[in-house]
Amino acid sequence: MKPESRAKAEAWLAYFSDLKIAPFYLDRPSSSENVVYAGAGASAENSPASAPPTARELRRIAPNPFVAQPKAEAAAPLPAIKSASLFEAGERVVNDSLELIRESIGDCQRCRLCKQRNTIVFGSGNPRAELVFIGEGPGRDEDIQGLPFVGRAGKLLTQMIEAMGLKREDVYICNVVKCRPPENRAPEPDEMETCSPFLYRQLAVINPKAIVCLGATAFQAIYGQKQSISRLRGQWLEFRGIPMMGTYHPAYLLRNPNAKADVWEDLKKVMAHLGLKIKSRP
Ligand code: URA
Repeated sequence: MKPESRAKAEAWLAYFSDLKIAPFYLDRPSSSENVVYAGAGASAENSPASAPPTARELRRIAPNPFVAQPKAEAAAPLPAIKSASLFEAGERVVNDSLELIRESIGDCQRCRLCKQRNTIVFGSGNPRAELVFIGEGPGRDEDIQGLPFVGRAGKLLTQMIEAMGLKREDVYICNVVKCRPPENRAPEPDEMETCSPFLYRQLAVINPKAIVCLGATAFQAIYGQKQSISRLRGQWLEFRGIPMMGTYHPAYLLRNPNAKADVWEDLKKVMAHLGLKIKSRP
């Protein structure tokens, strides 16, 4: 076995060992052609994953950044939205496209992040993806390459995607802010506010079946309020009619490998929702 193949295989074994699950990768699909989507004659009924979210589960609506939100019900388990979201300013653009959005961003100087960035990291993947992953913002590697999630955390995200039976090219990956914050600090609220309208336009154009927010910053940008990701991860919410779920950021998983099992539980819910088959374990 070539050293690169061995390293990749070892990384896989370590990943599944962290997930504390049996080595089901032995019979996972070798390409996205084997991935079965609901509506394409597939059924997730035999899947060991939890059932797709019901209408009742999807009833818990995240604040729409474009629309004033009604008061949350007193009994709702999520905190009431007390003020308008920071992110209400975005507008829908008629006949929008990813190309048009990239064009609108241009050589962006709208916030201070432009000063130290090397490249604008717009996003990458399938423009018609059924699943979109949203991260916080580019790191060093992403800033150099101009692509999201290509560093260490990105390698882990790739493993997570492949564990779902997908390839990176099947999904769309982007970030809340498109320029690297200095020293990889979290983006400031005004930076998020400036950049988020482009993210919302990307989501409107792609119109995926599900959005996964990686970490608290992405969750905040989509949910509209700062929340504890450990409390709300794995719960189906909704963003402008699109089912949305938060989970831990891969960078957090690198520091806390035990949390990989929690993320896998969340991703299995996403797989069930998308009608992706979870292979039976040997
Ligand atoms: N972390 C992120 O949130 N996004 C990236 O693109 C890379 C690392």
